[in-house]
Amino acid sequence: MTNNLNSSQIKSKHDEYMLPCVVNYYQEPLALTKGEGKYVYDAEGNQYLDFFCGILTTMLGHSHPEVNRRTKEQIDKLQHVSTLFQTIPMVELAEKMANITPGGLKKSFFTNSGTEADETAVMIAKKHTGCDDVIALRHAYSGRSSLAMSLTGHSSWRQPGASIPGIRHALSPYCYRCPMHLKYPGCELACAKDIEELILTSTSGRVACFLAEPIQGVGGFITPPKGYFETAVEIIRKYGGLFIADEVQTGFGRTGGKMFGIEHWNVQPDIMTFAKGFANGFPIGGTITTDEVAKSMTGLSISTFGGNPVSCTAAMATVEVVEKENLVQHVAEIGNYFFDKMFELQSKYPFIGDVRGKGLMIGVEVVKENKEPDPSTVLKIFELTKEKKLLIGKGGLYGNVLRITPPLNIQKNDIDDAVMILDKVFGKL
Ligand SMILES: Cc1ncc(COP(=O)(O)O)c(C=O)c1O
Repeated sequence: MTNNLNSSQIKSKHDEYMLPCVVNYYQEPLALTKGEGKYVYDAEGNQYLDFFCGILTTMLGHSHPEVNRRTKEQIDKLQHVSTLFQTIPMVELAEKMANITPGGLKKSFFTNSGTEADETAVMIAKKHTGCDDVIALRHAYSGRSSLAMSLTGHSSWRQPGASIPGIRHALSPYCYRCPMHLKYPGCELACAKDIEELILTSTSGRVACFLAEPIQGVGGFITPPKGYFETAVEIIRKYGGLFIADEVQTGFGRTGGKMFGIEHWNVQPDIMTFAKGFANGFPIGGTITTDEVAKSMTGLSISTFGGNPVSCTAAMATVEVVEKENLVQHVAEIGNYFFDKMFELQSKYPFIGDVRGKGLMIGVEVVKENKEPDPSTVLKIFELTKEKKLLIGKGGLYGNVLRITPPLNIQKNDIDDAVMILDKVFGKL
């Protein structure tokens, strides 16, 4: 393997050997060769401030010294055994997850990705309830297996094959574009209440589960109003279903003030799923449930790579750094600072229709007049921020929402730098 290809050589190999569905950001895709803390570097050595973290994943920054040190030690000690054997990293990580997740969540199953974590969660719910009907949300994203695509509420991320039966998509609690054309709180949470009619009219009258993200990530950081989850989950439980909180994007302090996103919403999940930032970039997915629900998971289930000792060690190190450095509180404080700056930009630039999210999960919805989604301005913002060496993400059904998610240990001066770049870029539009 060569380590010294330049960007255009990398691009030509990418074009020739990768499936065309492997899409990249930017007109001229960015080929990255190094990451250190809050920075990544391209093949020509240019430095970029990374405010997207490989989709909310390198949440302690790239190559975090403690995560890397412990992970390298584990690679030299024991690298792989499969779930057929017990390992210290796996059982200790499971114990840690039981200790830091809310309520009675206790028993874990580890996999390699968020897709598999959500698959496992739905499988558990179906086994436990003996029911096949699942409620998901419009604007949700669950991954790229057939089931995960079927759970996903974006046409663009549903390839043929996303047609597993039994899944109904309830309305998203998307207040900026209320699907019922109402306004909170006068709406009295009509979108949540509609789940009851959805169950009564389109299922057998019982459901296995409701799978939802505490803040819809790929959907463009759609943040439900207060009371949404309490109402929705009460209805789900009335019809026999379990509540699965998908913490793939919102977990481990990302939303500030709480370790998990769902803890902001005053409901207790029966199952939670994790991935992305869990191991600061090492591949891992996790699903945790209560003792009682876990009892239904008899029969055989195996994962060759799930619970891999190296990934579990990286996850344990990541979670311990979050705890030791009190990042949950840090994100609450620094997130407020960042949001205030973004609200200032919103009052300056009329194309910023909405600023939403929590902690260091900041969504900026870009619109034309009358709130018409404006993905072409987002593409311009992307080219200009790239020029100024700032990386951010995007999302939303229409591709018109900026997703800004720096590492959790970011400081005020870095936020000031990013806001200055955004201000300059916005001023040029
Ligand atoms: C909320 C949520 N769930 C599940 C997934 C799927 O995770 P993965 O890409 O690791 O399979 C994603 C990925 O973006 C996600 O955002």
